[in-house]
Amino acid sequence: MKQNRFFHYLVYLLLVITMTTSFISCSKEQKTPPVTEKKSDTSKTKNTVSENSINSAGKQLFYMKSKENNIACSDCHNDGSNTSNSLTKYFSDITGADKRTSTYHGRFTGEEVARNAGGATVCWETYLKMKTPMTEDQIKSLNEYYSSLKSLTSLTEIKYETIALPVKDKVKLKEEQKTIMGLKGDPTKGEADFKNNCAFCHGENSNIKKVPSLFDEFEGNVKSITYNIRFGNGSMPFYKKSVLSDQDIADISAYILKKNGQ
Ligand code: HEC
Ligand code: HEC
Repeated sequence: MKQNRFFHYLVYLLLVITMTTSFISCSKEQKTPPVTEKKSDTSKTKNTVSENSINSAGKQLFYMKSKENNIACSDCHNDGSNTSNSLTKYFSDITGADKRTSTYHGRFTGEEVARNAGGATVCWETYLKMKTPMTEDQIKSLNEYYSSLKSLTSLTEIKYETIALPVKDKVKLKEEQKTIMGLKGDPTKGEADFKNNCAFCHGENSNIKKVPSLFDEFEGNVKSITYNIRFGNGSMPFYKKSVLSDQDIADISAYILKKNGQ
């Protein structure tokens, strides 16, 4: 009996000791700054270990070829170092895109801008044909990448001159189609414009997947060429007037139609 009692007493003592130590450690934990407590902050600490690792995650995304069509962000947009592809001259540069007050011709404003990586979430699905939306982490690393780039211009906002954003202006398109059909196109000039603007996807040696040929059983005309250029189509981007004028479209059309024997 006596022994049993002593045993109980020992267990009780042990219990008290464990409870006090755990209480002490618990209150200690509460005093530590919240930084180490939250799960999201662990990733923050991991990222801040090296500024470069953030930049390279965003940069990798920017240069990553989509498995769907082999197109990358860097094929269309300029980050200050990839000007070798002629297409990057025609679409906005991405420097500081997350800091713009409005992107995509007012489609995103205020906080929506950064939340959509400057509007890249649209390009991700439209042009790269990605099947799942961009993740929070991908958006974050793209924003970091934009910010890390040395400014090419002092622009914080891109001024658009287009009939394709934020909604397609079909009335203006009709007017343009009429104007362009009334212009005389120069196929030689059109060939040069085609090489710079279109051959990346429609050229014979193009690496881009799922692009229709414009020279083999092409059934289009000036009207449909204008439609595709001004509004874009699938993974084909639209071209604003300041990039391709009505006369440029007339020239490109003349070249395409001549090659088709029309
Ligand atoms: C096939 C070409 C193409 C691809 C690929 C592409 N974009 Fe775009 N992007 C456009 C076009 C066209 C616009 C709207 C008009 C313009 O920028 O000239 C645009 C707009 C943007 C804008 C908004 C610019 C502004 O200030 O309004 C950002 C930022 C952007 N794209 C980033 C990206 C990123 C990041 C990727 C890769 C995930 C990407 N884009 C892929 C063609 C493309
Ligand atoms: C980034 C790649 C890309 C670039 C650059 C591009 N296109 Fe396209 N284009 C496409 C794709 C993809 C389609 C098919 C769209 C669909 O039907 O889904 C297409 C479709 C077309 C069509 C319709 C074809 C048909 O049979 O009806 C025409 C016309 C056309 N493009 C002309 C042009 C011209 C002219 C240029 C240059 C000013 C150009 N494209 C630049 C990718 C591109």
